[in-house]
Amino acid sequence: MRYTAPPYMYDVLPYPSAKEPWLTTARWRAIERHFREMVMRAGYREIRTPILEPTELFKRSIGEATDIVSKEMFTFVDRGDRSLTMKPEGTAPAVRACIEHNLFTEHPLLKLYYIGQNFRYERGQKGRYRQHQQLGVEVFGATDAAVDAEVLALAMSFFTSLGVSCRLHINSVGTTDCRTRYREALKAYVEPSLANLSDEGQMRFKVNPLRMLDTKDQRDLAILAGAPALREFLSEESSLHFQQLQDYLTAIAIPFRIDDGLVRGFDYYSGTVFEIKGEGLGAQDALGGGGRYDGLVEECGGAAVAGLGFGIGMERCLLALEALGIAPNQEDEAPVAFIITAGSQQEVKTAAVKLLYSLRTAGIAADMDYQGKNFRRQFKRADDVGTRFYIIIGEDEAAKGTVQLKDRSSGEQREFDAESVAEALRTGRL
Ligand code: HAM
Repeated sequence: MRYTAPPYMYDVLPYPSAKEPWLTTARWRAIERHFREMVMRAGYREIRTPILEPTELFKRSIGEATDIVSKEMFTFVDRGDRSLTMKPEGTAPAVRACIEHNLFTEHPLLKLYYIGQNFRYERGQKGRYRQHQQLGVEVFGATDAAVDAEVLALAMSFFTSLGVSCRLHINSVGTTDCRTRYREALKAYVEPSLANLSDEGQMRFKVNPLRMLDTKDQRDLAILAGAPALREFLSEESSLHFQQLQDYLTAIAIPFRIDDGLVRGFDYYSGTVFEIKGEGLGAQDALGGGGRYDGLVEECGGAAVAGLGFGIGMERCLLALEALGIAPNQEDEAPVAFIITAGSQQEVKTAAVKLLYSLRTAGIAADMDYQGKNFRRQFKRADDVGTRFYIIIGEDEAAKGTVQLKDRSSGEQREFDAESVAEALRTGRL
């Protein structure tokens, strides 16, 4: 029996695999670090929520008629007869946790970030998986359009500072009232051509008409080309907010385009919505997305607290970097020193083991061979792992309590007391 990862789920390995060379733990951590540093500079604090949440939370927040809730959730009944769902996204869990722990009352303006795994039973393809990781932020307690600009600017500068060029698409979906009026107008416009719409389009017409706009079907796009735009149905207040956001983005030199067809796949959005699209990524070009959800906290049982945020897809970010040939700034995983033993005397091996542990205790990354390799092959292994220094111990050295320290790049070599080699390694000088 040969087991494999579940469909459209993947392993993140320490070495590039033939299938997914872009997916390595070092790259993964580099992106996480980049994100963490950026959002912490802007005053965001980390929240971690469980993988599992009550199913009802997602039905209520994301909406029963959405693709995610109607057909993509990993849901099961636990041994205590509770319906639980593996989180498909991070916003509703953050809202649930803040209500549960009274964070909204104690911190009227709350800026949170998270890095977490999400699960959606999607039809998999490159860039679309059943388990994916999001890097996200949520801001609670501010309706000011300047905070919308901050959130959008953070998402954009995350990519631009990595060297990924991308486009920012924005729209406003207004208030519930605006959307109700628009929904009627859109349905009235589409109705005469309903029979020509794709099956999916016809289904959306019935259950979630705004989602008709989010299509790649050419026939549907042709029918919808002349449809009224949501923007024309915005209240004065929503229009003003949207205009203010555009003014702020212009002031901070973030280019954007208004996209009338941009409606997101969740029912909780109100006002600003946005998506960041990358180039050369094929159909799955959404690198990140988000928006405002001013009614969500109340919907989930909390007070009337405004909110907005975004989620960035880790895998899509790594794919975008790969397509551009950019390697993120990764941590050095090579050891500083690799201990090599000459001869097969047990005293030599014991001296090596002793030194290895004293180096590590002193905070120096060190390693040695455990496969009984001959002298030459130990050097090969040391080169393969990219060590900076070789430490060579033979019978003479073991007897005297010394070692030979050799700089791999310069070839320079000196004898040191085993006791003082840590200091030499720390300064990096022979
Ligand atoms: P979302 O647009 O569903 O939004 O996901 C955010 C990003 O996660 C997407 O733009 C994409 O890069 C990535 N993503 C989503 N699904 C997959 C998948 N199946 N495979 C690979 N990557 C994927 C949200 O989830 C919202 N919670 C974002 C948000 C936060 N809105 C407000 N606050």
